Amino acid sequence: MPRTLIEPFRIKSVEPIRMTTRAERERLLEAARLNVFKLRAEDVLIDWLTDSGTGAMSSRQWGAIMEGDESYAGARSFYRLESVIQDITGMKYFVPTHQGRAAERVLFSAVCRSGQLVPNNCHFDTTRANLEFLGVEAQDLVIAEGLQPALIHPFKGNIDLARLEAVLQTQADRVPFGMLTVTNNTGGGQPVSMANIRACAALLKQYGKPLIMDVCRFCENAMFIKMREPGYENTSIKAIAQEMFSYADGATMSAKKDGMVNIGGFIVLRSDEWMDAVRNLEILTEGFPTYGGLAGRDLEALAVGLLEGMDEDYLRYRLRTAEYLGERLQAAGIGFMQPTGGHAVYMDARTVLPEMPVAHYPGWALCNALYLEGGIRGVEIGSVMFGKRLDSGVETYHSMELVRLAFPRRMYTQSHFDYAAEVIADVKQHAAAIRGVRLVKQPRYLRHFTCECAWV
Ligand SMILES: Cc1ncc(COP(=O)(O)O)c(C=O)c1O
Repeated sequence: MPRTLIEPFRIKSVEPIRMTTRAERERLLEAARLNVFKLRAEDVLIDWLTDSGTGAMSSRQWGAIMEGDESYAGARSFYRLESVIQDITGMKYFVPTHQGRAAERVLFSAVCRSGQLVPNNCHFDTTRANLEFLGVEAQDLVIAEGLQPALIHPFKGNIDLARLEAVLQTQADRVPFGMLTVTNNTGGGQPVSMANIRACAALLKQYGKPLIMDVCRFCENAMFIKMREPGYENTSIKAIAQEMFSYADGATMSAKKDGMVNIGGFIVLRSDEWMDAVRNLEILTEGFPTYGGLAGRDLEALAVGLLEGMDEDYLRYRLRTAEYLGERLQAAGIGFMQPTGGHAVYMDARTVLPEMPVAHYPGWALCNALYLEGGIRGVEIGSVMFGKRLDSGVETYHSMELVRLAFPRRMYTQSHFDYAAEVIADVKQHAAAIRGVRLVKQPRYLRHFTCECAWV
């Protein structure tokens, strides 16, 4: 067998990307107030800002798009997607939404009340923001290993069951449901083991609490289980996914990840307990429940995408790609969240900028340096994203300063990864010249998207 693992697809349609000079990038970043979210995409060479909705669809998906039934109510495309989702999740109720955060908003608004508390391994930023907006406390209970970037552990996304039990023992009356995010995006794209999902569900059940999973990347999580958890070596990805879902009472999904589509999301629920409230909010803000803010063609593309997302050859290549970049970073002496996650590599900015004070936002500074050096756009997952300016004016900081390079699905080839590895190594060599930032303007929620910065 040849050792080279190739992209398991060939390219049918191409989209040019544009080289810029360093002088141009300096000007463009200044104009963007030192916030890469404000750059125009055409000014970015390699866009690893997110894997969300940015991937390439297959010829089968584009073909399915032509089958889209655009009827307002009861469209054929809805029922086709519903049967695919029911088969994978085993859940009776399926509600499409235009993306993941809409699923969160609809479900949380239907179920949660101010003063409640939702435990999770780690809430993604939109999940946390949607809960906090309703006055609900979002508690992250990932295992301690999950917070140590350099430590190798097969399932760093696991929730700490002892801490979850302590929360349930002391504050069960505040908990409407428990959550698990698979894979754990905020904690490094790290998987959750089947054993942990099973035990978490059982613990919640003891206290009469449902388990809601955030399943944006359930296919990648299933592949990690297959590769790392004894007993699953010979189980298909679909069967692993079905078992993962069997422990949950409901799920929210941003289909823009493992759904392999550019837009879409959904809620699934096992029982109809919350369905009236969910349906009412859905109609109020997303649309009639058989389209939920999506076109019929989007529903068709997702029905195909969910099956392609579970393809084992694709998943093996995908996880290996991240691992390969990790190996290149290691060779350059750059720390990253170990082992590499499913959809991204999370560089530890402190290993590039060990002297930079946290108040100068080293993760943000590294992110800007990658753009200036090679036109690469990543995203800070650190104290700009998760810190806060309190009403007292005091700043809080995050426990890690990471820069996430998230890979759109089926989009970049090995030479793009080789180029990026060279750029990152160069940035590390010239780290002494990297400047920190201060925040000069910030909104109250999700500040990283729109904040404005200045060089320190
Ligand atoms: C774990 C997780 N949950 C929820 C979301 C929100 O999904 P969307 O961007 O589709 O609103 C994301 C998106 O990045 C995510 O990674």
